[in-house]
Amino acid sequence: MQVELAALNYQRSRLVRGWTHLERQRGGFGFMGGPGETQIETDRRLIGQRITRLKRELEDVKRTRALQRQARRRELNAVVALVGYTNAGKSTLFNRLTHASVAAKDQLFATLDPTMRGLELPSGRTAILSDTVGFISDLPHELVTAFHATLEEVTEADLVLHVRDVAHPDTEAQKEDTLAVLKKLGLDGSDSGALIEVLNKTDLLAPGERETLLNRTARSNGPVVLVSATTGSGCDELLHMLDRRLAESAEEFDFDIPLENGRAIAWLYDHGEVVERTDDDHHAHLRVRLDAADGAKFRKKYEQEREPGK
Ligand code: GTP
Repeated sequence: MQVELAALNYQRSRLVRGWTHLERQRGGFGFMGGPGETQIETDRRLIGQRITRLKRELEDVKRTRALQRQARRRELNAVVALVGYTNAGKSTLFNRLTHASVAAKDQLFATLDPTMRGLELPSGRTAILSDTVGFISDLPHELVTAFHATLEEVTEADLVLHVRDVAHPDTEAQKEDTLAVLKKLGLDGSDSGALIEVLNKTDLLAPGERETLLNRTARSNGPVVLVSATTGSGCDELLHMLDRRLAESAEEFDFDIPLENGRAIAWLYDHGEVVERTDDDHHAHLRVRLDAADGAKFRKKYEQEREPGK
């Protein structure tokens, strides 16, 4: 919708010059405008109507998205966004990663937004994987704003996966283009390892090329992983990498939990790493490493499970 809106605005501005050679129409049908309305006036009016409708629909989409974001925050899931040049294999990887994961989790998001799905990582930690529109170079100027707007979600992601087609002859130029766009969005490749480079389509490389790439990535200063979304090779490694990166944001929490609340204790063992535990007659005192999202989630869950007034 944003792209169509930009295109229509562009078209409307061009109408002035493009159509002035046309003569004034005589008469015309109802919806085409009254007698004497020029073709250019008719076109402007129709385009104007479509623009108004699109703007209204876009407002609806924005509202829905804001609600979805709120819901996700309430769930406190980490968000992992896929970005990359068009045809890099983002959607294929999206499907590969999320199908390898637990399907039940999908349903909540499948109904809301087809480009978001739940992802269960090897540790049991859950995240939301978000697919985005592909980048292209030399985007017409009029479309740049619309394009950036569709990428708003990326700036809120906890981790960004930069998917690359390494078998493409222009892969380096595509990488530069993508990084330039990310930079404009405020995502600097060098900051804090939030950006992971995913070298895709490695199945198309000759063994020698693969070796060279492996050597090169070993020297790279950011996190890099070689995968093939088609064959699935490297995808486990990628999932483990996501796990590690999200765990790095982990903090230590102290909880005193009544011993009879076995469910809460089990939840902590499931979702975090119990660093220390001492039990007295009534309580388990636990020091647990959890990522920030899980820590907050546990507090909420646990508070709710406590009897009122205790
Ligand atoms: P846009 O929607 O244009 O941004 O593309 P995308 O990045 O989502 O790419 P998509 O997943 O649609 O894949 C593009 C093409 O590459 C498809 O024909 C895929 O089958 C193919 N492809 C994706 N991943 C791989 C891979 O690992 N190996 C091979 N050989 N082909 C792949």
